[in-house]
Amino acid sequence: MNKKSMYLALGVVAVIAAFVLGGVVDLFPAEEAAGKPEVVNVYTSRHYGVEPVFERFTKETGIQVRFTTGSDALLRERLRAEGKNTPADVYMAVDAGNLWLAGEAGLLAPVDSKVLRDNIPANLRDAGNRWFGLTRRVRTILYHPARVNPAELSTYEALTDPKWKGRLVMRPSTHSYTQSLVSSLVAAHGPARAEEIVRGWVANGPTLIDSDTRILEALAAGQGDVALTNHYYLGRLLQANPQFPIRVFWANQNDRGAHQNISGAGVTAHAPNRDNAVKLLEWLATAGQADFASSNHEFPANPKATAHPIIVGFGEFKADALNIGEFGRLQADSVQILNRAGYR
Ligand SMILES: [Fe+2]
Repeated sequence: MNKKSMYLALGVVAVIAAFVLGGVVDLFPAEEAAGKPEVVNVYTSRHYGVEPVFERFTKETGIQVRFTTGSDALLRERLRAEGKNTPADVYMAVDAGNLWLAGEAGLLAPVDSKVLRDNIPANLRDAGNRWFGLTRRVRTILYHPARVNPAELSTYEALTDPKWKGRLVMRPSTHSYTQSLVSSLVAAHGPARAEEIVRGWVANGPTLIDSDTRILEALAAGQGDVALTNHYYLGRLLQANPQFPIRVFWANQNDRGAHQNISGAGVTAHAPNRDNAVKLLEWLATAGQADFASSNHEFPANPKATAHPIIVGFGEFKADALNIGEFGRLQADSVQILNRAGYR
Protein backbone atom coordinates (compact mmCIF):
# COMPACT_ATOMS: atom_id res chain seq x y z
CA MET A 1 0.00 0.00 0.00
CA ASN A 2 1.49 3.33 -1.02
CA LYS A 3 1.33 6.39 1.21
CA LYS A 4 -1.53 8.01 -0.70
CA SER A 5 -3.84 4.99 -0.50
CA MET A 6 -2.90 4.46 3.16
CA TYR A 7 -4.04 8.02 4.03
CA LEU A 8 -7.19 7.43 1.98
CA ALA A 9 -7.91 4.18 3.87
CA LEU A 10 -7.30 5.92 7.24
CA GLY A 11 -9.64 8.69 6.18
CA VAL A 12 -12.39 6.22 5.27
CA VAL A 13 -11.94 4.40 8.60
CA ALA A 14 -12.13 7.73 10.45
CA VAL A 15 -15.35 8.75 8.70
CA ILE A 16 -16.93 5.33 9.39
CA ALA A 17 -15.81 5.51 13.02
CA ALA A 18 -17.36 8.94 13.29
CA PHE A 19 -20.74 7.64 12.15
CA VAL A 20 -20.50 4.51 14.29
CA LEU A 21 -19.78 6.69 17.33
CA GLY A 22 -23.11 8.41 16.82
CA GLY A 23 -22.29 11.32 14.58
CA VAL A 24 -19.26 12.54 16.51
CA VAL A 25 -17.48 14.23 13.65
CA ASP A 26 -14.89 16.14 15.64
CA LEU A 27 -12.48 13.19 16.00
CA PHE A 28 -9.74 15.19 17.64
CA PRO A 29 -11.29 17.76 19.98
CA ALA A 30 -8.92 20.55 20.90
CA GLU A 31 -8.71 19.62 24.56
CA GLU A 32 -7.79 16.02 23.81
CA ALA A 33 -5.18 17.12 21.32
CA ALA A 34 -3.72 19.28 24.08
CA GLY A 35 -3.90 16.30 26.41
CA LYS A 36 -6.23 17.81 28.99
CA PRO A 37 -9.99 17.52 29.47
CA GLU A 38 -12.21 20.57 29.86
CA VAL A 39 -12.44 21.45 33.55
CA VAL A 40 -13.58 24.16 35.89
CA ASN A 41 -12.17 24.43 39.41
CA VAL A 42 -14.47 25.76 42.11
CA TYR A 43 -13.64 26.96 45.61
CA THR A 44 -16.93 26.77 47.46
CA SER A 45 -18.21 27.37 50.97
CA ARG A 46 -21.66 26.29 49.80
CA HIS A 47 -21.15 22.57 50.12
CA TYR A 48 -24.69 21.43 50.81
CA GLY A 49 -26.06 19.55 47.78
CA VAL A 50 -23.62 20.93 45.18
CA GLU A 51 -22.27 17.58 43.97
CA PRO A 52 -25.29 16.20 42.05
CA VAL A 53 -25.77 19.60 40.43
CA PHE A 54 -22.13 19.76 39.28
CA GLU A 55 -22.49 16.20 37.93
CA ARG A 56 -25.48 17.27 35.87
CA PHE A 57 -23.45 20.22 34.51
CA THR A 58 -20.70 17.81 33.44
CA LYS A 59 -23.22 15.52 31.77
CA GLU A 60 -24.73 18.41 29.82
CA THR A 61 -21.55 20.27 28.87
CA GLY A 62 -18.67 17.77 29.08
CA ILE A 63 -16.87 20.14 31.46
CA GLN A 64 -15.63 18.44 34.62
CA VAL A 65 -16.14 20.29 37.89
CA ARG A 66 -13.45 19.92 40.52
CA PHE A 67 -14.37 21.52 43.78
CA THR A 68 -12.74 22.32 47.09
CA THR A 69 -14.81 23.24 50.13
CA GLY A 70 -13.88 25.44 53.06
CA SER A 71 -15.08 28.44 55.01
CA ASP A 72 -15.69 31.65 53.06
CA ALA A 73 -12.83 33.50 54.74
CA LEU A 74 -10.39 30.61 54.40
CA LEU A 75 -11.07 30.23 50.68
CA ARG A 76 -10.61 33.97 50.15
CA GLU A 77 -7.31 33.79 52.03
CA ARG A 78 -6.24 30.89 49.86
CA LEU A 79 -7.09 32.80 46.67
CA ARG A 80 -5.09 35.75 47.93
CA ALA A 81 -2.08 33.59 48.81
CA GLU A 82 -2.14 31.73 45.48
CA GLY A 83 -2.41 34.93 43.45
CA LYS A 84 -1.71 34.39 39.75
CA ASN A 85 -1.00 30.68 40.34
CA THR A 86 -4.43 29.82 41.68
CA PRO A 87 -6.09 26.75 40.17
CA ALA A 88 -9.50 28.20 41.13
CA ASP A 89 -11.77 29.51 38.38
CA VAL A 90 -14.84 30.16 40.51
CA TYR A 91 -15.29 31.45 44.06
CA MET A 92 -18.67 30.34 45.36
CA ALA A 93 -19.85 31.61 48.72
CA VAL A 94 -22.79 32.07 51.03
CA ASP A 95 -23.80 35.54 52.21
CA ALA A 96 -23.39 38.56 49.96
CA GLY A 97 -20.95 40.03 52.50
CA ASN A 98 -18.41 37.33 51.61
CA LEU A 99 -18.73 37.86 47.86
CA TRP A 100 -18.50 41.60 48.38
CA LEU A 101 -15.27 41.19 50.37
CA ALA A 102 -13.79 38.97 47.62
CA GLY A 103 -14.72 41.58 45.03
CA GLU A 104 -13.24 44.45 47.03
CA ALA A 105 -10.02 42.46 47.61
CA GLY A 106 -9.52 42.16 43.82
CA LEU A 107 -9.99 38.39 43.87
CA LEU A 108 -12.77 38.41 41.26
CA ALA A 109 -12.81 39.54 37.62
CA PRO A 110 -15.92 41.14 36.09
CA VAL A 111 -18.03 38.98 33.78
CA ASP A 112 -19.96 40.75 31.06
CA SER A 113 -22.69 38.20 30.37
CA LYS A 114 -26.09 38.90 28.85
CA VAL A 115 -27.31 35.53 30.17
CA LEU A 116 -26.46 36.52 33.76
CA ARG A 117 -27.85 40.04 33.36
CA ASP A 118 -31.09 38.72 31.86
CA ASN A 119 -31.66 35.99 34.46
CA ILE A 120 -30.39 37.39 37.77
CA PRO A 121 -32.24 40.46 39.09
CA ALA A 122 -30.04 43.54 39.48
CA ASN A 123 -30.45 43.72 43.29
CA LEU A 124 -29.02 40.19 43.60
CA ARG A 125 -25.73 40.82 41.81
CA ASP A 126 -22.75 43.16 41.96
CA ALA A 127 -23.16 46.40 40.01
CA GLY A 128 -19.58 45.83 38.80
CA ASN A 129 -20.42 42.28 37.57
CA ARG A 130 -17.82 40.67 39.84
CA TRP A 131 -20.31 38.34 41.56
CA PHE A 132 -23.81 37.07 40.99
CA GLY A 133 -26.46 35.76 43.39
CA LEU A 134 -27.59 32.27 42.42
CA THR A 135 -29.98 31.39 45.25
CA ARG A 136 -31.98 33.39 47.78
CA ARG A 137 -32.17 32.63 51.49
CA VAL A 138 -34.53 34.48 53.77
CA ARG A 139 -33.64 35.15 57.40
CA THR A 140 -37.01 35.46 59.04
CA ILE A 141 -39.03 34.75 62.19
CA LEU A 142 -39.64 31.14 63.23
CA TYR A 143 -42.02 30.20 66.04
CA HIS A 144 -43.51 27.34 67.97
CA PRO A 145 -47.28 27.36 67.24
CA ALA A 146 -48.15 25.84 70.63
CA ARG A 147 -46.68 28.85 72.42
CA VAL A 148 -46.99 31.71 69.94
CA ASN A 149 -49.98 32.96 68.00
CA PRO A 150 -48.70 34.27 64.65
CA ALA A 151 -50.98 37.29 65.11
CA GLU A 152 -48.50 38.40 67.83
CA LEU A 153 -45.67 38.55 65.28
CA SER A 154 -44.89 41.31 62.81
CA THR A 155 -41.35 42.61 62.36
CA TYR A 156 -37.69 42.18 63.41
CA GLU A 157 -38.09 45.55 65.15
CA ALA A 158 -41.10 44.32 67.19
CA LEU A 159 -38.98 41.54 68.74
CA THR A 160 -37.67 44.32 71.01
CA ASP A 161 -41.04 44.27 72.81
CA PRO A 162 -40.55 43.22 76.47
CA LYS A 163 -43.17 40.50 76.00
CA TRP A 164 -40.43 38.46 74.29
CA LYS A 165 -38.12 38.61 77.31
CA GLY A 166 -36.47 35.22 77.81
CA ARG A 167 -38.30 33.77 74.78
CA LEU A 168 -35.95 34.58 71.85
CA VAL A 169 -33.31 32.29 70.31
CA MET A 170 -30.78 33.94 67.98
CA ARG A 171 -27.38 33.46 66.33
CA PRO A 172 -24.25 35.09 67.88
CA SER A 173 -22.90 38.38 66.55
CA THR A 174 -19.80 36.73 65.11
CA HIS A 175 -21.79 35.04 62.36
CA SER A 176 -22.22 36.83 59.03
CA TYR A 177 -25.96 35.96 59.06
CA THR A 178 -26.46 38.15 62.13
CA GLN A 179 -24.21 40.89 60.74
CA SER A 180 -26.10 41.02 57.41
CA LEU A 181 -29.43 41.17 59.22
CA VAL A 182 -28.17 44.17 61.20
CA SER A 183 -26.88 45.70 57.95
CA SER A 184 -30.42 45.47 56.59
CA LEU A 185 -31.61 47.42 59.67
CA VAL A 186 -28.91 50.05 59.09
CA ALA A 187 -29.97 50.34 55.44
CA ALA A 188 -33.62 50.72 56.44
CA HIS A 189 -33.30 53.02 59.48
CA GLY A 190 -29.77 54.42 59.71
CA PRO A 191 -27.15 53.36 62.28
CA ALA A 192 -28.62 55.06 65.39
CA ARG A 193 -32.05 53.45 65.09
CA ALA A 194 -30.46 50.11 64.10
CA GLU A 195 -28.43 50.19 67.32
CA GLU A 196 -31.60 50.90 69.33
CA ILE A 197 -33.25 47.84 67.80
CA VAL A 198 -30.26 45.62 68.55
CA ARG A 199 -30.22 46.96 72.14
CA GLY A 200 -33.91 46.05 72.39
CA TRP A 201 -33.17 42.46 71.35
CA VAL A 202 -30.29 42.26 73.83
CA ALA A 203 -32.57 43.58 76.60
CA ASN A 204 -34.82 40.57 76.00
CA GLY A 205 -31.89 38.27 76.84
CA PRO A 206 -31.93 36.03 73.77
CA THR A 207 -30.42 32.56 73.97
CA LEU A 208 -27.53 32.58 71.45
CA ILE A 209 -26.77 29.38 69.55
CA ASP A 210 -24.23 29.25 66.71
CA SER A 211 -26.15 26.91 64.41
CA ASP A 212 -29.50 27.61 62.77
CA THR A 213 -30.39 23.90 62.90
CA ARG A 214 -29.72 23.76 66.63
CA ILE A 215 -31.70 26.98 67.10
CA LEU A 216 -34.76 25.32 65.52
CA GLU A 217 -34.23 22.14 67.51
CA ALA A 218 -34.02 24.23 70.71
CA LEU A 219 -37.31 25.91 69.76
CA ALA A 220 -38.92 22.53 69.14
CA ALA A 221 -37.63 21.32 72.52
CA GLY A 222 -39.19 24.30 74.31
CA GLN A 223 -35.99 26.27 74.93
CA GLY A 224 -37.54 29.45 73.52
CA ASP A 225 -40.62 30.47 71.55
CA VAL A 226 -39.41 32.67 68.70
CA ALA A 227 -36.19 32.58 66.67
CA LEU A 228 -34.47 34.18 63.72
CA THR A 229 -33.00 31.68 61.23
CA ASN A 230 -32.62 31.18 57.51
CA HIS A 231 -35.72 29.54 56.04
CA TYR A 232 -33.92 26.56 54.43
CA TYR A 233 -32.91 25.06 57.78
CA LEU A 234 -36.59 24.48 58.47
CA GLY A 235 -36.89 23.09 54.92
CA ARG A 236 -34.20 20.51 55.70
CA LEU A 237 -35.74 19.58 59.05
CA LEU A 238 -39.18 19.20 57.46
CA GLN A 239 -37.72 17.07 54.68
CA ALA A 240 -36.35 14.71 57.34
CA ASN A 241 -39.45 14.92 59.53
CA PRO A 242 -42.68 16.37 58.06
CA GLN A 243 -44.05 16.61 61.63
CA PHE A 244 -41.30 18.99 62.81
CA PRO A 245 -43.39 21.49 64.82
CA ILE A 246 -41.79 24.86 63.95
CA ARG A 247 -43.49 27.36 61.59
CA VAL A 248 -42.30 30.24 59.41
CA PHE A 249 -43.51 33.78 59.83
CA TRP A 250 -42.53 36.14 57.01
CA ALA A 251 -41.22 39.28 58.70
CA ASN A 252 -41.95 42.91 57.79
CA GLN A 253 -44.60 42.16 55.18
CA ASN A 254 -46.27 45.54 55.71
CA ASP A 255 -43.09 47.51 55.10
CA ARG A 256 -39.81 46.61 53.32
CA GLY A 257 -40.22 42.81 53.32
CA ALA A 258 -38.28 39.93 54.87
CA HIS A 259 -34.48 40.07 54.96
CA GLN A 260 -33.01 38.08 52.09
CA ASN A 261 -29.43 37.15 51.37
CA ILE A 262 -27.85 35.01 48.67
CA SER A 263 -25.45 32.29 47.89
CA GLY A 264 -23.60 33.15 44.73
CA ALA A 265 -20.38 33.08 42.79
CA GLY A 266 -17.85 35.02 40.79
CA VAL A 267 -15.05 34.19 38.36
CA THR A 268 -11.61 34.55 39.94
CA ALA A 269 -9.21 37.23 38.77
CA HIS A 270 -6.66 34.67 37.54
CA ALA A 271 -8.99 31.86 36.40
CA PRO A 272 -7.06 29.38 34.21
CA ASN A 273 -10.35 28.18 32.68
CA ARG A 274 -12.27 31.43 32.49
CA ASP A 275 -14.62 30.41 29.63
CA ASN A 276 -15.68 27.29 31.49
CA ALA A 277 -16.18 29.31 34.66
CA VAL A 278 -18.52 31.70 32.84
CA LYS A 279 -20.37 28.70 31.35
CA LEU A 280 -20.84 27.22 34.82
CA LEU A 281 -22.24 30.49 36.22
CA GLU A 282 -24.57 30.91 33.24
CA TRP A 283 -25.75 27.31 33.53
CA LEU A 284 -26.36 27.65 37.28
CA ALA A 285 -28.42 30.78 36.57
CA THR A 286 -30.57 29.03 33.93
CA ALA A 287 -30.76 25.28 33.15
CA GLY A 288 -29.28 24.28 36.52
CA GLN A 289 -31.00 27.01 38.51
CA ALA A 290 -34.00 25.13 39.96
CA ASP A 291 -31.91 22.10 40.95
CA PHE A 292 -29.17 24.25 42.46
CA ALA A 293 -31.62 26.23 44.61
CA SER A 294 -33.68 23.17 45.57
CA SER A 295 -30.62 21.17 46.60
CA ASN A 296 -30.55 23.38 49.71
CA HIS A 297 -34.25 24.37 49.90
CA GLU A 298 -33.34 27.88 48.78
CA PHE A 299 -35.38 30.14 46.56
CA PRO A 300 -34.10 30.52 43.00
CA ALA A 301 -32.49 33.86 42.20
CA ASN A 302 -33.91 33.56 38.68
CA PRO A 303 -37.61 34.47 38.96
CA LYS A 304 -38.41 32.06 36.10
CA ALA A 305 -37.26 28.98 38.05
CA THR A 306 -39.52 27.03 40.40
CA ALA A 307 -38.77 26.49 44.08
CA HIS A 308 -38.79 23.25 46.08
CA PRO A 309 -42.38 22.26 47.10
CA ILE A 310 -41.53 22.29 50.83
CA ILE A 311 -40.57 25.98 50.75
CA VAL A 312 -43.40 26.84 48.34
CA GLY A 313 -45.52 25.53 51.23
CA PHE A 314 -44.17 28.33 53.44
CA GLY A 315 -46.43 30.69 51.46
CA GLU A 316 -46.01 33.78 49.34
CA PHE A 317 -44.03 36.64 50.79
CA LYS A 318 -42.37 39.92 50.01
CA ALA A 319 -38.58 40.07 50.27
CA ASP A 320 -36.60 43.23 50.99
CA ALA A 321 -35.58 44.57 47.55
CA LEU A 322 -32.40 46.17 48.93
CA ASN A 323 -29.29 45.62 46.81
CA ILE A 324 -27.50 42.90 48.70
CA GLY A 325 -24.10 44.44 48.00
CA GLU A 326 -25.09 46.74 50.89
CA PHE A 327 -24.52 43.89 53.34
CA GLY A 328 -20.85 43.93 52.47
CA ARG A 329 -20.56 47.71 52.48
CA LEU A 330 -22.26 47.97 55.90
CA GLN A 331 -20.66 44.92 57.54
CA ALA A 332 -17.98 46.78 59.52
CA ASP A 333 -20.60 49.26 60.86
CA SER A 334 -22.88 46.40 61.85
CA VAL A 335 -20.14 44.61 63.76
CA GLN A 336 -19.52 47.84 65.72
CA ILE A 337 -23.23 48.26 66.44
CA LEU A 338 -23.48 44.67 67.70
CA ASN A 339 -20.45 45.20 69.95
CA ARG A 340 -21.67 48.53 71.32
CA ALA A 341 -25.11 47.06 72.00
CA GLY A 342 -23.60 44.20 73.97
CA TYR A 343 -24.84 41.50 71.57
CA ARG A 344 -22.39 38.62 72.08
FE1 LIG B 1 -26.56 28.44 56.14
